[in-house]
Amino acid sequence: MKEDSINALLNPKSIAIVGASATPGKIGYSVIKNLLESKFSGSIYPVNPKDDVILGLQNFKSVSEIPGPVEAAVIVVPAKYVPGVIDDCGKKGVKGLIIITSGFSEVGDIALEDQIVKQARSYGMRILGPNIVGTLTNSTKLNASFAPYLPLPGKASLITQSGALLIAIDAISYTRGVGFEKLISIGNMSDVDFADLITWLDGDPFTSCISLYIEGFKDGRRFIEACKKTNKPVIALKAGVSTHGAAAAASHTGSLAGSSKVYDAAFQQAGTLRATDLNNLFDRTLALSLQPTMKGENMLVLTNGGGVGVLATDAAEKYGVPLKFAPEDVQAELKKHMPDYGSAKNPVDMTGMAGNDWYYKTVKFSYAHSWVDGLVVLYCETAQTNPEEIAKSIHKAISESGVKEKPVTISFVGGERSDKAMRWLVENGIPTYNAPDLAVNAMAALREFHNLREIVNHKAYKSSSNGGVVARKIIAKARKDGRGALTEIESKQVFAAYDLPIAATQLSTSEDEAVALAKKVNFPVVMKIVSPQILHKSDAGGVKVNIKDEAGVRDAFKTIMVNTKNYKAEAEIHGIAVQEMAPWGTETIIGSVNDATFGPTVMFGLGGIFVEVLKDVTFRVAPISESQAAQMLDEIRGAPILNGARGEAPRDKKALADVLCKYAAMIYELQDEIAETDANPVLVYEDGKGVKVVDARIILKSK
Ligand code: COA
Repeated sequence: MKEDSINALLNPKSIAIVGASATPGKIGYSVIKNLLESKFSGSIYPVNPKDDVILGLQNFKSVSEIPGPVEAAVIVVPAKYVPGVIDDCGKKGVKGLIIITSGFSEVGDIALEDQIVKQARSYGMRILGPNIVGTLTNSTKLNASFAPYLPLPGKASLITQSGALLIAIDAISYTRGVGFEKLISIGNMSDVDFADLITWLDGDPFTSCISLYIEGFKDGRRFIEACKKTNKPVIALKAGVSTHGAAAAASHTGSLAGSSKVYDAAFQQAGTLRATDLNNLFDRTLALSLQPTMKGENMLVLTNGGGVGVLATDAAEKYGVPLKFAPEDVQAELKKHMPDYGSAKNPVDMTGMAGNDWYYKTVKFSYAHSWVDGLVVLYCETAQTNPEEIAKSIHKAISESGVKEKPVTISFVGGERSDKAMRWLVENGIPTYNAPDLAVNAMAALREFHNLREIVNHKAYKSSSNGGVVARKIIAKARKDGRGALTEIESKQVFAAYDLPIAATQLSTSEDEAVALAKKVNFPVVMKIVSPQILHKSDAGGVKVNIKDEAGVRDAFKTIMVNTKNYKAEAEIHGIAVQEMAPWGTETIIGSVNDATFGPTVMFGLGGIFVEVLKDVTFRVAPISESQAAQMLDEIRGAPILNGARGEAPRDKKALADVLCKYAAMIYELQDEIAETDANPVLVYEDGKGVKVVDARIILKSK
């Protein structure tokens, strides 16, 4: 029923416009006019209480009066009348409602929005909107919107949360030459959301690539799942990536989790490409909608200009597809089509002497060569060459090569003649840009998408232990005591229940007990105050390290007790933890937050100054796969330190990745109980020597 309703919204065969108007300038007039002008071949039924005829079409006083079936209704009556119209549509058997009307949750009227969703669902109808421009489809010539015309036809479909942007993109599609099959305004997403539409577009034969303008999600996990399931490229432009509004948090991790970093993680896990800005969204959409992905790492750049070649080389490194010299045999063949002073390495510089024939021969050879995984062709307009002819030579070489599953992007730098040639190339299926770095960025997107898809469906680690049972008992006891956080000892017990390697820590309630425990864990030891009211133990003078003997233990016990009494006299003291003094290792931090949009989310970074000052941390939505854990270790700026910088031995990344997987599984399983956690520091030893969690903190969800 649901799928069917979305089909009715995007591909209706019959459509009613409730609030149709014969008055030019009204939205109800524009929608009818647009449906007629776009030459929609299905039935169009204007609905208005007054008129008999609107723009030459028979008008109906209500939807129920329409004689034939009505699949979708566009609603353009003021908000207060919308509930009445929905009942009318429901009784008629309409399947999908395209609600253009504003005046719902976006202005604070959440109750009215909830009411219309409930009402629509009671009739089995789905809602697109409210507060939208409408929806436009080239293949069925459906302009059910107040955007003035259908976009330039193409293979991409775009979903946008901003209606104004849809109208602008509609116009830009012609000036930029980037074509669209569908433009869908999603507005308040009261019912149909990004996930529903991505799932539908996955099965749409006219859509080869899905582009998104996103301000936020209601349910981020549905989005991730929908993107993972489609093999079509999804490109997201996310607005609102500033750190403004990061949640006030009790844990260290909480304060580092700006929404932007969590969105970064989510897009990565969804296998979704990012666009940096609106232009980049167009550029990447063009490439992804027209070209196959780049399956290997060898990109070859052909050019007639040294300057654009260098710019392309810089861009290649910047966008993660650095150039490598072509093998000898490739160079030898290419050398045949350039003067002695040209270069056949990579970029291949045929020099300004390159004409149609050299372009034709080098493109044909390189594109078909097995070493080349992606080809970027650059051209600078010259006095001796005609851009249109160069474009035709390149296109001919590509078509005649017989190669199908290899991408090519092009850049023409020049004036009007080059612009015309570029347009021709795009119309003939080759993404072409007016700057070399844009052509390289487009190729990088084709490579990045291939890499993202390689790991997107790797299975997430799932805990096999009965850690949950142990953890929930500890949490229940803390809640019974009226506490919102676990003590360090309790937090470590929870970690240990999930097989996380904690530094052995036990609670002593007397000097003698502390001495006995210290002997058990072996000297040197660390001693720390355990009190629910003292979260920052060092600030309270509640931590002593490197205690070497019994006398030291007794001395530390007394001092810590006195210090903490002075710090907070009313603090309830559980005792003093005696912990093995973990040997030095690379300091890292692992933590988690329960994000409002994506739920439990794990963080990793290097400790000390890296986390405090540089905020060099990365996130993933839990649970995570081994490959995602490995990616996290590699993508922080301080990654070289883990690989063994400055003569140090490489760190045990395998053990660290394993800990990250287990940690993510833990916070995922306990998401109904846990708000935030920190494991800080987590010491990482040399390869093969493992990891140790030295301190632990668990903040509970308030219930
Ligand atoms: N059934 C059918 N038609 C009805 C009706 C009903 N229950 N109630 C009213 N109408 C008719 C009106 O008679 C009018 O037709 P007319 O021009 O022949 O008189 C038409 O519907 C529109 O109603 P009106 O009261 O004139 O409203 P409007 O055209 O000024 O505004 C909206 C209606 C929906 C456009 C307006 O409320 C709105 O939401 N505007 C913002 C839309 C927007 O920008 N959305 C996208 C954001 S990105």
